[in-house]
Amino acid sequence: MVRWFSRFFARTAPHCRIARFTDSNRMAAIHAQGFAIGWDRAGIETMLGEGHVADVACRPAALGEAVIGFAISRVVLDEAELLTIALDPSARGEGIGRTLLDFHATRLRRAGATSVFLEVAADNAAALALYRRAGFAQIGRRNGYYPPAGGGAGRRDALTMRLDIAHLDPTPRAF
Ligand SMILES: CC(C)(COP(=O)(O)OP(=O)(O)OC[C@H]1O[C@@H](n2cnc3c(N)ncnc32)[C@H](O)[C@@H]1OP(=O)(O)O)[C@@H](O)C(=O)NCCC(=O)NCCS
Repeated sequence: MVRWFSRFFARTAPHCRIARFTDSNRMAAIHAQGFAIGWDRAGIETMLGEGHVADVACRPAALGEAVIGFAISRVVLDEAELLTIALDPSARGEGIGRTLLDFHATRLRRAGATSVFLEVAADNAAALALYRRAGFAQIGRRNGYYPPAGGGAGRRDALTMRLDIAHLDPTPRAF
């Protein structure tokens, strides 16, 4: 019984890896399900080509693996900006966002960053919980920064947040 469970979870457990150009279609589809203004495949491929740090979360699937989430950041010197993190709706609320964010932070450190900055809508409860649990601290607020959600009235505030990652291992290694 114990062996059956460990085999089952080894087959279904998500894992993270560096994003590839061949993931761009799937990344665009996941982005479109998370945000009103989507990023298309070409835009994502441009970011990958520019050397942005991009990672995906995957689940084992019949044809190898299925991409269920991704994170992309831009690194300039010792600062990283988390541009987006998004999961397929079917994969949310299982802790995969946290796993992906931890993996991504390690990669950002190895790319030279010691701090990660981001902006998040003040009413995005899931994202705020994810970031706070990961150790991000609020450093500012931009009033009315985002357009209204779902075409409603009233612009939404953005919170700016920062995470210190200087303590992570900076040694480059293959993933
Ligand atoms: C934000 C997002 C990436 C979080 O990923 P996730 O895998 O669902 O998050 P996790 O399961 O790791 O949960 C992280 C924390 O958020 C909490 N959480 C998850 N969904 C929540 C919700 N709807 N409301 C409040 N808290 C929520 C979890 O309880 C957990 O907190 P805990 O560690 O204190 O228990 C995911 O919801 C998503 O893709 N949203 C759409 C895109 C988006 O808004 N991205 C952020 C842009 S700034």
